[in-house]
Amino acid sequence: MHSESPLKILGIETSCDETAAAVIEDGSTILSSVVASQVEVHKAYGGVVPELASRKHIENICIVVDQAIAEAGISRQEIDGVAVTRGPGLVGALLVGFSFAKALSYGLGVPWIGVDHLEGHLNSVFLSQKKPSFPFVALLVSGGHTAIYHVLSHTSARCLGQTRDDAAGEAFDKVAKMLDLDYPGGVVISRLAEQGNPEKIKFPRAWLDKDGFAFSFSGLKTAVKRYIETHADYREHIADIAAGFETAAVDVLTHKLIHAAETTGVRDIAIVGGVAANKRLRATVAEAARSLNLNLHVPAIELCGDNAAMIAATGYHYLADPDGPRGKLSDDVYSRMLR
Ligand code: KG4
Ligand code: ZN
Repeated sequence: MHSESPLKILGIETSCDETAAAVIEDGSTILSSVVASQVEVHKAYGGVVPELASRKHIENICIVVDQAIAEAGISRQEIDGVAVTRGPGLVGALLVGFSFAKALSYGLGVPWIGVDHLEGHLNSVFLSQKKPSFPFVALLVSGGHTAIYHVLSHTSARCLGQTRDDAAGEAFDKVAKMLDLDYPGGVVISRLAEQGNPEKIKFPRAWLDKDGFAFSFSGLKTAVKRYIETHADYREHIADIAAGFETAAVDVLTHKLIHAAETTGVRDIAIVGGVAANKRLRATVAEAARSLNLNLHVPAIELCGDNAAMIAATGYHYLADPDGPRGKLSDDVYSRMLR
């Protein structure tokens, strides 16, 4: 670290289909956050095509990083360190950002660190004005993961339970596909659900062990599929299907998060990840939190989905520590969740 002024960390994220870069000052002030979505590329295939994602990252990475530095109003020489997503994610996609970050920090002569993508999502709540106190519990709901964490510090969290099959976002995307809706489905389903009656079609809630923190969404997904197959006129009440599905998923997510808060005795709770943008989830958890006097923390909508601000904010806590770990040129990426 070579500056006396607040540390400026450049974050880079390429774990899936967003090429993102951001500059964060002092661990929580966003100077810039650029996200280049590849949705248009993958839309035609109804899902992310890994090789296309890698190629698109290669095309975009220099542009996105330059834009983040320019929008932050700084020069490259003012960057104190680089934080980059190391995993989990698509290996070919991760390698683009990871190799770029190694080369850039080597060229600039600044330290760098590989950051866990999920730890990044957990830290996304610290980019808001009102910050949670440790320890807190967080529901991480994204396209690739669904889990509840007991978060002890910026760099340490214990997973209390996770999904046994699909992730919540994946279930939203698959149900959208069944209903012939646009890709990616989460946001389309939630928009449609606003016009539907959530009581009309009752889909099953997969509580599993009601006291536990494991999730399963495959039964709910199958129930929606069966409903579609057995109701020839299903197109006429598609909004009710969306609302019924969404409510079934949100009920279970909310119950387990609140139960985790009660079990661990924390006062602060959080929802993070792409599905944390869901209005019904935010409203239902907010209502439960209010009735129990818990402090709810949710990231701004643009920080729920994948972004590099959360990666920079996480990397800061490693890089600001003179004795903290540093990335090495021999470091590699990983595809699967570490804990
Ligand atoms: O965190 P994220 O951007 O990427 C992963 O790390 O997976 O999450 C993307 C997921 C997708 O499955 C998308 O459909 C879902 O988040 N999503 C939503 C909403 N907005 C995005 N799901 C439900 N309601 C939304 N409003
Ligand atoms: Zn993510």
